Amino acid sequence: MRLQWPALLAIPVSLLLAQPSGPLPPSGLRVEYLAEAVVDVPQPRFSWALNHTERGQKQSACQVMVSAEPGFEVVAWDSGRLASSQSTHVAYAGKPLESGRAYYWKVRYWDRDGKESPYSAVSRFDTGLFSASEWKGKFIGGANQLRKEFSLPGRPVRARAYIAGLGYHELRVNGRKVGDHVLDPGWTTYDKRVLYVVHDVTRYLQPGANAVGIVLGQGWYGSRAALLQLNIELEGGQRVEIVSDATWKTAQGPIVSDSIYDGETYDARLEAPGWDRPGFDDAAWKPASLVDAPKGVLSVQMMPPIRVVDNIVPLKMTSPRPGSYVYDMGQNFSGWVELRVRGPRGTQVKLRHAELLYDDGTLNVENLRTAKATDIYTLRGEGGEEVYQPRFTYHGFRYVELSGFPGAPKLDTIRGKVVHSAVKPAGGFASSKAILNQLQHNILWGVTSNLHSVPTDCNQRNERMGWMADAHLYAETAMLNFDMAAFYTNFLRSIRDIQGPDGTVTDTVPHKYGQRPADPAWGAAYPLIVWYVYQYQGDRRILEQHYEGVKAWTEYQRSRSQDGILSFSHYGDWVPIEPTPGDLVSTFYFYYSAHLTSRMAALLGKTADAEAYRTLAGQIREAFDKKFWRPEIQAYGNGSQTSQVLALYLGLVPPEKPRPVMGHLINDIVYGRNTHLTTGILGAKYVMELLARTGRSDLAYELATQTTYPSWGYMIEHGATTLWELWQEKTGPSMNSHNHPMFGSVGAWFYSALAGINLDPERPGYERIRIQPQPAGDLRWASGSLDTLRGPVVSSWRRTPGSFRLEAAIPVGSEAEIHLPIGNLSPVVVKESGRVVWKDNAYQPGAPGLTGARQTAGAVVFEAGSGAYVFEMTGAN
Ligand code: BGC
Repeated sequence: MRLQWPALLAIPVSLLLAQPSGPLPPSGLRVEYLAEAVVDVPQPRFSWALNHTERGQKQSACQVMVSAEPGFEVVAWDSGRLASSQSTHVAYAGKPLESGRAYYWKVRYWDRDGKESPYSAVSRFDTGLFSASEWKGKFIGGANQLRKEFSLPGRPVRARAYIAGLGYHELRVNGRKVGDHVLDPGWTTYDKRVLYVVHDVTRYLQPGANAVGIVLGQGWYGSRAALLQLNIELEGGQRVEIVSDATWKTAQGPIVSDSIYDGETYDARLEAPGWDRPGFDDAAWKPASLVDAPKGVLSVQMMPPIRVVDNIVPLKMTSPRPGSYVYDMGQNFSGWVELRVRGPRGTQVKLRHAELLYDDGTLNVENLRTAKATDIYTLRGEGGEEVYQPRFTYHGFRYVELSGFPGAPKLDTIRGKVVHSAVKPAGGFASSKAILNQLQHNILWGVTSNLHSVPTDCNQRNERMGWMADAHLYAETAMLNFDMAAFYTNFLRSIRDIQGPDGTVTDTVPHKYGQRPADPAWGAAYPLIVWYVYQYQGDRRILEQHYEGVKAWTEYQRSRSQDGILSFSHYGDWVPIEPTPGDLVSTFYFYYSAHLTSRMAALLGKTADAEAYRTLAGQIREAFDKKFWRPEIQAYGNGSQTSQVLALYLGLVPPEKPRPVMGHLINDIVYGRNTHLTTGILGAKYVMELLARTGRSDLAYELATQTTYPSWGYMIEHGATTLWELWQEKTGPSMNSHNHPMFGSVGAWFYSALAGINLDPERPGYERIRIQPQPAGDLRWASGSLDTLRGPVVSSWRRTPGSFRLEAAIPVGSEAEIHLPIGNLSPVVVKESGRVVWKDNAYQPGAPGLTGARQTAGAVVFEAGSGAYVFEMTGAN
């Protein structure tokens, strides 16, 4: 069964219905982007969305209250009435936050007219352990299960477990798994940083005898080690600390082997019931050993954990061979299956996973390369039903082969578990064109399948790396569909962690595959993702934190360049139909880095740097034209589409030398290739935005809805439920993943061009919004929504031969320009919620929230404050 993604996020009813007028309590409270945050930064930043019954409203002042008591008896920070319109990233400025505490906070605001809102609901955040000395335990290891019993001389009123269990861990207290995370903690460069997870375990503990257990898997660490600090407060104030040390006991559990790529082998006969409860006889267990700790600093995992986010019921089951049953889950995804089985003790049931089938219905695992993707379960066979899910592996698959099953399995013998970093859906896109909706579906599954604490390239073969180009190419698409800010904040820190003293970054982060230095198109993930987070979230701190790193990467590229040209390249415009010269691609990204370094410097007030990098960018631009312009073919580079797209996208064509580059590109796409792209992953991202920006959305639309090879539609017509790695349909042992999100860059264009939701780079974070739908081709309607930090942005339109109707929502505190495309309606009349607002080529004032309008070449453009609007444009046709 397929998941239904929300086509539209609901607009708060308060925005739509008439209510008692005035400012309503703020909602959507976040600390460092997270609704349930645990932070280890001294000045966490608070964000909230404003609500108001009137249009054109904003915050003129706010008051934030933070306390360690839910009733706010003692206040850690009372901001007082802060005269400020800022409702996102407001930095804590109270008494120093204490380590290992729970804090409560709430906020109210004053509107444009000085009217005060009620306080928001109270929200909570926790602090991690601020200093290394608060960790009293040691990293311990041994076999893959660790246990410790202890007694509490009173009732626990507050308990927090801080745990770093590498590679993966499961924490258990008194017989129960703690929390709902899986595959914790996130993957990092362990010698630089280890993430720990914080759990509220109060309700797992009891007065008297208690037991804590840890199950360990190899994960990305490749070995097993755990550090636990369990801080318990008893009624009456007594404190108890339980820590990992040599007094723990260890034994091998039923997980016989575990590997991310190969799968898990589980022998239920080896289970020791009660091992994670008090009173278990562990005489046969060995003492745990102190193990060499990874050298990295301990940091709180400040991003959404990996979770089982959904279940999938198989579509059908076939039996291509006696004793072998193949399930079609109907969807390529990341995770595993849950098995239900009854049978004799010692029976071995095998689950193999694959993306593809052969014609005879058996699994084709050739493209998994060496990944075995096989889970094996041995039954304990005590009569009852046995339910098994692996713990420390995950697979990328659509098909599952079940063999060794005692008896005849049924369709519900297995159930899919969808597993990925549990980022919240934030956006929705839908349109009147079925193939675009299917592509959106494939993009959503492609992106989420590849969020596994790092943005991965694929989810199935022996790879699943944080390949940096893949990461930046689908970052905007991811941010428009999911709440990605905390995830990318973490990833950027991981990039900084691997940066060398010479400024180099690596092809993959953490660095396992690929090279140092990264291909410039891969290393570009550093400046680009910093810039995207700044643009989409208005986050200045991310600029501050990474400016020096970004600058160092630009400087490294400069050190390798000659006369403005950067020649080294490992992959260039990867997996194209027609290749593009590597030095052209690298020089483009060298320019992009210099340009962004200059922009970031300017924003941070570093004027000398801003100037220096502007100059550098100018030199690269000149060099680019000089080196790559080929008069004999009147095109850049080798004439490939990507060569032209890159030159045009960042304006590398000298304005004083008009060159027919756009013409060359369009001719090649339309006539040379019969409306197909020949680009690799890089060109495919920028071409859509370039066409949208230059008034050629009609062509972009034809490309996006094309169904013959090569195209996104071709993948869909050939059964893709995610995005392929290659334009080609391949199924052999070569590199041909069927779940590779890098071509998903097109998803950002759905929002920006088709739905028309755009941010203003000068006032980022959706403080100012440009709603500018581009109704292309035979599209009759399109609808986009995005739940930003400031509140929901909506643009939803429908056209008929004589009308264009647009519903738009702008968050309180934001403003927008709203473009109504005239098309062939002329002369036009525009009504907003029934009132005439444009007539006789002139703005008709009076509608609440609107402050003006003008006519441009193709549109009537309204200036609007916050609120929900319904525009209806009609005209003679
Ligand atoms: C990965 C790509 C990656 C590339 C680098 C492949 O193996 O799957 O997505 O960017 O290598 O060339």
